[in-house]
Amino acid sequence: MIAPADAHGLLCYDLIMADRCDRSIGEHQWHSREYVDNWIERDVTRDNVRRPILQQMLTLAPLAPEAEINVLDVGAGYGLVSEQVLRIFPRASLTLHDYSAPMFEHARRRLRLHSSRISYVLSDLRDPAWTAELQAPFDLIVSGLAIHNLREQSLMQACYRSVYELLRPTGIFLDYDLFGLIEGGVGTHRSWLQAAGFERTECTWEEPPLAIVAAWVTNT
Ligand SMILES: C[S@@+](CC[C@H](N)C(=O)[O-])C[C@H]1O[C@@H](n2cnc3c(N)ncnc32)[C@H](O)[C@@H]1O
Repeated sequence: MIAPADAHGLLCYDLIMADRCDRSIGEHQWHSREYVDNWIERDVTRDNVRRPILQQMLTLAPLAPEAEINVLDVGAGYGLVSEQVLRIFPRASLTLHDYSAPMFEHARRRLRLHSSRISYVLSDLRDPAWTAELQAPFDLIVSGLAIHNLREQSLMQACYRSVYELLRPTGIFLDYDLFGLIEGGVGTHRSWLQAAGFERTECTWEEPPLAIVAAWVTNT
């Protein structure tokens, strides 16, 4: 279970950085190497808290550990979620997606031992063509602390539609995010996922504003 202090620590950090950088709360500078370095330096201290939660999330995927699956990590950043995917599914082919080159520099270092299994795709989730270079279909799509960055409801809804379209009919989407930042929290996000086409959604863990939401393409 994540400690509330850790969940809210994310928001406190946003507050401090917003103040320091004269920005509004929750605004990030993911294209700045200095900002990314600082964010990771602080966030790495929470990796040990997040790892077991992410591993628990991945057990929801109805896939054999030795399966040669195709996996996408949306907003993969420095690769913490991807790292857990490769621990549980060592034969997976993994695509890390993000729009931050400095984040990918960190991810390449972190995942260097798995480089033959990994592709990196830089694109902006706000661009309707963000999926153009991805090698779909995927068996599993994961995401961690990324989609809330879109802020606008219409952009998050469009992202969920794209994720749905990228998955196989047997596919699953597992998302660990700050769902509680919008009105209606997890319930609102689940309704958007259902509107995007997912037949089944579940919230499997919640420590507001954080939660894990799973979405299945088909309800089998
Ligand atoms: C809080 S970090 C999370 C990184 C990683 N998934 C994790 O759990 O540690 C958010 C990530 O989302 C990415 N991101 C934010 N907005 C994005 C956008 N519009 N398009 C693509 N990536 C975006 C950032 O560059 C950053 O790497």
